[in-house]
Amino acid sequence: MGILDKHKILETNATLLLVCSFLVVTIGGIVEIAPLFWLQNTIEDVEGVRPYAPLELEGRDIYIREGCYVCHSQMIRPMRDEVERYGHYSLAAESQYDHPFQWGSKRTGPDLARVGGRYSDDWHVAHLTDPQSVVPESIMPKYGFLTETLIQPAQIAAKMETHRLVGVPYTAEMIAAATADFRAQADPERDFDGLLERYPGAQVRNFDSRPGISEMDALIAYLQMLGTLVDFSTFTPDPSR
Ligand code: HEC
Repeated sequence: MGILDKHKILETNATLLLVCSFLVVTIGGIVEIAPLFWLQNTIEDVEGVRPYAPLELEGRDIYIREGCYVCHSQMIRPMRDEVERYGHYSLAAESQYDHPFQWGSKRTGPDLARVGGRYSDDWHVAHLTDPQSVVPESIMPKYGFLTETLIQPAQIAAKMETHRLVGVPYTAEMIAAATADFRAQADPERDFDGLLERYPGAQVRNFDSRPGISEMDALIAYLQMLGTLVDFSTFTPDPSR
């Protein structure tokens, strides 16, 4: 009996085919999934990656609320055209504290994973208020209303606690200082030493150059942080992975 004839037995017997398919899928599934239960972590720790500062976290929520992810991805793939355009490919660790992650699946606009530091705050205010004023061919909607809405840190500590529930390592100290840190990041007149100790590399400025902390301040604080936490001049991937 040739191999094709043997296979015919399987193909003409629905029950046998079902049982055998089930076996194959079960074994394949176990081989792929089981090792994950014994791994401590599937994400390589990378120096510099830290939980978001309170104002950045608030900005991130505004980013999600306004649906920026519908047109923008935050995931640079390790392909030459992407790396030359956007910078070092994204590391898993860089979205480690994102709940939910913002990788996205649509690029009507450019990837934003490394947009931090690429433009000035003033450019972002002008661009978000009226994108065509700085990029005449832009089809991005206007978000000028973000400047009008002042925000309070009333919810921020509770928000951070929620992120802690899903695994973001916010400490009790970070949560206790949440309100002060929120205000300090947008106001260089305040004492921001504690903020910088808790969130190394946090940028402290009045982002929209207007009095009060607005949604615009929070969103720009978030955008200016994106992709800046890891120092790629010294980063080397862990060869054991
Ligand atoms: C309808 C699709 C669309 C939406 C929604 C959208 N954008 Fe854009 N965005 C674009 C396009 C197209 C460009 C490229 C032209 C330009 O620079 O305006 C762009 C460019 C940008 C840039 C400049 C990126 C670079 O590297 O030059 C930033 C920053 C940006 N968008 C932020 C945002 C934020 C923040 C939001 C949400 C508040 C948002 N966008 C919502 C389409 C969109």
